[in-house]
Amino acid sequence: MASPVHFTTLVLFYVLIAVVVAIGPTLGISCNEAGSVTRIDRPWLKLTGSIPPQIGAFSSIKYLNLSLNNLTGWGNLKSLKLLDLSHNQITGPIPSTLCNLTNLKQLDLSGNQIIGPIPSTLGNLTNLELLNLSRNQITGPIPSALGKLTNLKELDLSFNQITRAIPPTLGGLNNLEFLHFTSNKISSFIPLELGNMTSLVELLLNENKLKGSIPHEIGNLKNLVALNLSNNNLNHRIPQSLTTLSKLSYLYLDSNFLQGPIPSEIGNLKNLFELNLSKNKLNGLVPSSLANLSRLSYLFLDSNLLKGPLPSQIGGCLQILSLSNNHINGSIPSEIFSYGRHTLNLSHNFIEGEIPHQFDSDNNINILDLSHNNLIGMIPDFSWRLEELNLSYNSLEGPIPEYLSSQFSSDSFWGNKYLCGNLPDFSPCPSTPINKLKIVEIILPVLYIIEATNDFDIRYCIGIGGYGSVYRAQLPSGKIASLKKLHRRESEFLALNKSFKNEAKMLSEI
Ligand SMILES: *[C@@H]1O[C@H](CO)[C@@H](O)[C@H](O)[C@H]1NC(C)=O
Ligand SMILES: *[C@@H]1O[C@H](CO)[C@@H](O)[C@H](O)[C@H]1NC(C)=O
Ligand SMILES: *[C@@H]1O[C@H](CO)[C@@H](O)[C@H](O)[C@H]1NC(C)=O
Ligand SMILES: *[C@@H]1O[C@H](CO)[C@@H](O)[C@H](O)[C@H]1NC(C)=O
Ligand SMILES: *[C@@H]1O[C@H](CO)[C@@H](O)[C@H](O)[C@H]1NC(C)=O
Ligand SMILES: *[C@@H]1O[C@H](CO)[C@@H](O)[C@H](O)[C@H]1NC(C)=O
Ligand SMILES: *[C@@H]1O[C@H](CO)[C@@H](O)[C@H](O)[C@H]1NC(C)=O
Ligand SMILES: *[C@@H]1O[C@H](CO)[C@@H](O)[C@H](O)[C@H]1NC(C)=O
Ligand SMILES: *[C@@H]1O[C@H](CO)[C@@H](O)[C@H](O)[C@H]1NC(C)=O
Ligand SMILES: *[C@@H]1O[C@H](CO)[C@@H](O)[C@H](O)[C@H]1NC(C)=O
Ligand SMILES: *[C@@H]1O[C@H](CO)[C@@H](O)[C@H](O)[C@H]1NC(C)=O
Ligand SMILES: *[C@@H]1O[C@H](CO)[C@@H](O)[C@H](O)[C@H]1NC(C)=O
Repeated sequence: MASPVHFTTLVLFYVLIAVVVAIGPTLGISCNEAGSVTRIDRPWLKLTGSIPPQIGAFSSIKYLNLSLNNLTGWGNLKSLKLLDLSHNQITGPIPSTLCNLTNLKQLDLSGNQIIGPIPSTLGNLTNLELLNLSRNQITGPIPSALGKLTNLKELDLSFNQITRAIPPTLGGLNNLEFLHFTSNKISSFIPLELGNMTSLVELLLNENKLKGSIPHEIGNLKNLVALNLSNNNLNHRIPQSLTTLSKLSYLYLDSNFLQGPIPSEIGNLKNLFELNLSKNKLNGLVPSSLANLSRLSYLFLDSNLLKGPLPSQIGGCLQILSLSNNHINGSIPSEIFSYGRHTLNLSHNFIEGEIPHQFDSDNNINILDLSHNNLIGMIPDFSWRLEELNLSYNSLEGPIPEYLSSQFSSDSFWGNKYLCGNLPDFSPCPSTPINKLKIVEIILPVLYIIEATNDFDIRYCIGIGGYGSVYRAQLPSGKIASLKKLHRRESEFLALNKSFKNEAKMLSEI
């Protein structure tokens, strides 16, 4: 009757029991006073085939951990408290015989090749504290009978093919701390009853097909630390009640169809560490209350419809700030560089003005993407080492500094008509060969002139042009000179300033 495989297993099993009784304690096997096996901890035998039904005869086994073995099939172990068959090669459906293991507290069948639906008889294992069926090929709906498992602390059905709804009965699991349904095909609304699971610490429903709105009742989950609803079809607004979850550290709502503004009360989530709202349809301003989130380290708001200016302060110790692909305008506040950010991505917006020229010495941006904006002016002197830089498709002008053109290629600067430099696709900057002697010739009279004009006293000013003020001065030789005092930025970029040369020529002719 028994197949050869089955027979081998039986032999192996009895060998196992014999070894357990003989040398159990040295191998992590504990025995009760009567000498019978209560616990098989670290199996060293590679069992294959099915667990023989006779295993049930050893009714005092309370703990069977056969994980990482190639074990297929099932047994009937009445007084078992823990059944960990994770990461085996178990195939076929979950047998309804399991419902006879009424003392089970932990059932871990994760990482196998289990197919078929979750039997509703599992709802009879009312002592269960942990049910882990993740990483299998389970199909069908979640049986509403699971709502009877009121001792459950951890329920993990992630990475299966589970369909249809989250049964409202699950709201009765008021001891549940971890609810993981990641990566399934659940296509319902999020039931309001989830708001009754007030012990929840982690609620992971990401990568499903959930629809409708995020229920207001989610604000009852005061112990929630991680909420992941990303990659679903959720729409409507972000409920304000979410901003009352003061323990929340990880909030992911990205890749949905959420609309409306980011509630400004988000600044109340003082423990927030990661916030991902990217790829939604959120509009309105970037809330300035983000400045109050002193623990925030990762902020992704990219690919939304956010508009208006950038707030001058966001978060406390951001590692990544991604605001790309929005409708943000206004200029870049120089403060935005002054936190320990590693990545700043403001690409694909309508940001205008100059890139700030003054940076905090201790700032730390390694990756800077400002591409596809309306930035003007010259590339500032980034005094720290950048790992990635993208300034493409702006209206920047002037030279690409040598220290940048030696590190980055043309595609970091493309689409800026008036940039010049030592890179393919860019024209070289017009050179001004000034030797040392000339500099002395220029600087000495200039120093004198500064004195002659009484440090540019307004009395000596003979005109104010678009590029600076012109002063009259008498040199020691008696010659009259006109001196133009440039605004700081033009003086840094004298070489290219053709109009300045024209102006100087004209003035000297006058
Ligand atoms: C079962 O045994 C494996 C391998 O020794 C171990 O990694 C795992 O933590 C054990 N499970 C439990 C619940 O003790
Ligand atoms: C399980 O079986 C596969 C082949 O069927 C083998 O490659 C693997 O080493 C086995 N794992 C263990 C832990 O015995
Ligand atoms: C459960 O155990 C009872 C005896 O306690 C037995 O009669 C029944 O057949 C078992 N059910 C299954 C599905 O194995
Ligand atoms: C369930 O099992 C998987 C794989 O064995 C593991 O990664 C996961 O952390 C477990 N879930 C819970 C809630 O313990
Ligand atoms: C187990 O649960 C099923 C359905 O949930 C029920 O019909 C059955 O009577 C239960 N069996 C036991 C032994 O409690
Ligand atoms: C569960 O939540 C629903 C809807 O929020 C509520 O009407 C119901 O009274 C709650 N049930 C319990 C047992 O708290
Ligand atoms: C949240 O969901 C996203 C998308 O499914 C995933 O990449 C991320 O690792 C998840 N984070 C956590 C903490 O579960
Ligand atoms: C944030 O969400 C976007 C879009 O879903 C995703 O590409 C990105 O990896 C997420 N970031 C993190 C840190 O999870
Ligand atoms: C930051 O928090 C303080 C008090 O906690 C509050 O007075 C202030 O309005 C908040 N700032 C913003 C921009 O929300
Ligand atoms: C910035 O974001 C855009 C789109 O959101 C992306 O294509 C680009 O690769 C990001 N830049 C960097 C440096 O990661
Ligand atoms: C930014 O855009 C808003 C409309 O979204 C507009 O009212 C505002 O004037 C713009 N600000 C600047 C500085 O262009
Ligand atoms: C910079 O961004 C532009 C446009 O988004 C892209 O074509 C180019 O490849 C990017 N350059 C680098 C170095 O990533």
